[in-house]
Amino acid sequence: MRRLAILGSTGSIGIQTLDVISKIEGVEIVAMSCGHNFSLFTKQLERYRPPFAASLSIEENFSALSSVKKFFHGEEGIEEMLERSRPDTVVIGISGAIGLRFSLKATEICRRLCLANKESIVCGGDLLIEACKKKSVELVPVDSEHSGLFQLLGEGPRPERIFITASGGALRDWNAERMADATPEDVLKHPVWSMGRRITIDSATMVNKGLEVIEAHYLFGYDENDIDTYICRNSYIHAGVVYRDGVVKLHSGTPDMRIPIAYSLTYPFRERVVDGGEITGIPLLLEEIDGEKYPALELARSICGKQSKQIAYNAADEIAVEAFSKGEIKFGGIYNIIERTVSRMDDQIRADYRQTMEIDKIARAIALEEVKECF
Ligand SMILES: NC(=O)c1ccc[n+]([C@@H]2O[C@H](COP(=O)([O-])OP(=O)(O)OC[C@H]3O[C@@H](n4cnc5c(N)ncnc54)[C@H](OP(=O)(O)O)[C@@H]3O)[C@@H](O)[C@H]2O)c1
Repeated sequence: MRRLAILGSTGSIGIQTLDVISKIEGVEIVAMSCGHNFSLFTKQLERYRPPFAASLSIEENFSALSSVKKFFHGEEGIEEMLERSRPDTVVIGISGAIGLRFSLKATEICRRLCLANKESIVCGGDLLIEACKKKSVELVPVDSEHSGLFQLLGEGPRPERIFITASGGALRDWNAERMADATPEDVLKHPVWSMGRRITIDSATMVNKGLEVIEAHYLFGYDENDIDTYICRNSYIHAGVVYRDGVVKLHSGTPDMRIPIAYSLTYPFRERVVDGGEITGIPLLLEEIDGEKYPALELARSICGKQSKQIAYNAADEIAVEAFSKGEIKFGGIYNIIERTVSRMDDQIRADYRQTMEIDKIARAIALEEVKECF
């Protein structure tokens, strides 16, 4: 039996991971954590009965089921839960830069890290990859594009170029002028994927694709110039590799996050968790991305490999998306806040964990100042 811990079980990745677990054999859930969503977490605990559980916040009147041997609270509590439950596999389905803390902790305990939290790589790519190597932990990406590249980049000659795709988000057919005034309701209508709030907004700005270019750079060792990005409207193509002789290999299939989640758990084997595999009648079309319409993607490319700027890019986006969701800034303000925060951050290539968190804190303070300027 694989002993599994799911961090962020109440989120989009966490819920889909639980669905996958109900369809495959040989997995025992030993620990689960949530942030603040106690009503859903209670139902999950009732159904999956892990011996260890944790939440970020404390809810008055919340009493965990008697099936839970020990319930932990706070960030330290989530770490303690990992230590006590001794999982061999950990799914990091938490959103935000805080994911790095838990990813690093998981490398001290588990044999396989199923990483959905791309911020872990963007903020601490070298740190996390080195920790995985040192402890012989398998790092298996969950992001569909990176799962695709992970599957394509096996043995044999190294492709010259790699690429990942974007759906284009909810505003892909809007012009830049109209986009600037889009509302949260407009942006949250994602054409293909059903995901958490931040990543859905990040799809519309292409910040998500910017984070993913950086993620691919660290995970697969390609220069940013050799990582292309295209729009694939039906998200049927997730990624591809291009060899020097002109051969292109595609990773394609039904756009359903449960497929890469399942693969991260069962690799190198495959299990059927959703219907799919249709081949006929599905257009496989890639379109160029308009850099002027999506300046956040260009900005991410320009800072790829500069750790402090990457941390600032992510932190500013987290702050700006929050402000946009609350109606404090316009959609067009998100990019401005990220761009100004990144330009005000010193250029530092490598930081240890303590410095990473310090840079993240400074970047958030700068981004909050920039939000006020945007009012
Ligand atoms: N959703 C997708 O399809 C998808 C695809 C590829 C990659 N990803 C990546 O996967 C990660 C999760 O995305 P998501 O869409 O699943 O996000 P989400 O729906 O917002 O879920 C986030 C989860 O993390 C928990 N959480 C949030 N902040 C926390 C904190 N500070 N400490 C502990 N737990 C915390 C939340 O708890 P509560 O809800 O209980 O507060 C929730 O369980 C992101 O990095 C995203 O980029 C997601």
